[in-house]
Amino acid sequence: MRTFLNAQDLGGLRQALAEAAEIKKDRYKYVDLGRNMTALLVFFNNSLRTRLSTQKAAQNLGMNVIVLDVNAGAWKLETKRGVVMDGDKSEHLLEAIPVMGCYCDVIGIRSFAGLKDREYDYAETVYWQFVRHSGRPVFAMETATVHPLQAFADLITIDETPVPGKRKKVVMSWAPHPRSLPQAVPNSFAQWMLAAANEPDGIDGGLDFVITQPHGYELDPQFVGGARIEYDQMKAFEGADFIYAKNWSCPGVTNPQDYGKVLGDYHDYLSWTVGERQMAMTNNAHFMHCLPVRRNMIVTDDVIEAPTSLVIPEAANREISATVVIKRMVEELKAGR
Ligand code: CP
Repeated sequence: MRTFLNAQDLGGLRQALAEAAEIKKDRYKYVDLGRNMTALLVFFNNSLRTRLSTQKAAQNLGMNVIVLDVNAGAWKLETKRGVVMDGDKSEHLLEAIPVMGCYCDVIGIRSFAGLKDREYDYAETVYWQFVRHSGRPVFAMETATVHPLQAFADLITIDETPVPGKRKKVVMSWAPHPRSLPQAVPNSFAQWMLAAANEPDGIDGGLDFVITQPHGYELDPQFVGGARIEYDQMKAFEGADFIYAKNWSCPGVTNPQDYGKVLGDYHDYLSWTVGERQMAMTNNAHFMHCLPVRRNMIVTDDVIEAPTSLVIPEAANREISATVVIKRMVEELKAGR
């Protein structure tokens, strides 16, 4: 595996979930695999979970880890070709990437969407520059449009949470937020849920996936094609076993000029905050969120603190998802593939 952006990059999800369960049982089982190898983790944006869990994952595999915060301590990087570099950016990514590749065996990239230029963001320009110019396998630690390590951790969490006697109903709900946020988490969550739903035995007991959102927030069909959309949040929540709350800004699918915007005044959407009223419609659902989360904006204190909340197990599973992904890359490197 030379790249990791999408659910399909892992091949069968059942096999990936089995590997996750194996690593969870003994997270140091492959501690000799990465000896004398180095993982370089490059952050263009802030992070708590991704930073800690991915470092831990590489260490589980016996690797050395280098973390580079591009915006704190490194030269500011220009990412666009053709720019006259007379501003505050001293180095171009096209030199910086091959240099970084000299010092490591695998690279993880965290680079958010700019939310100004849809075409640039959705082309995953920064990520593919790393793939093209580093000479190393590259995995996404959240890019402009996807967050696959998060979605894989979420899938592990849903898979290991029993719901006796029925198919699991998973609902992803848009929730309000005062600032523009990327679509990476909902894009990946939808992609991974649909992949699991469509794979025979993809998830124990099978699953049904529903998205609920206000009009105007339709996600890109390349990620959510085939998903059921229900614009009435209360109706969507009926009988749900898992509620995955997330804000995302306008994806610009129907109105490209609105790309990256918060539509209207977020105060008018506070009825979408996930609280007891909505959770009462569910099958005593488990609450999920990737974190960080703004309380009483996305979700009420009571719902996130309920015993059925899975936000901490999801975060814990980030170490497991990252260990599986880096292990696959290292195994293939050692096999010369
Ligand atoms: N969920 C997630 O990726 O968290 P961080 O932004 O803190 O890494």
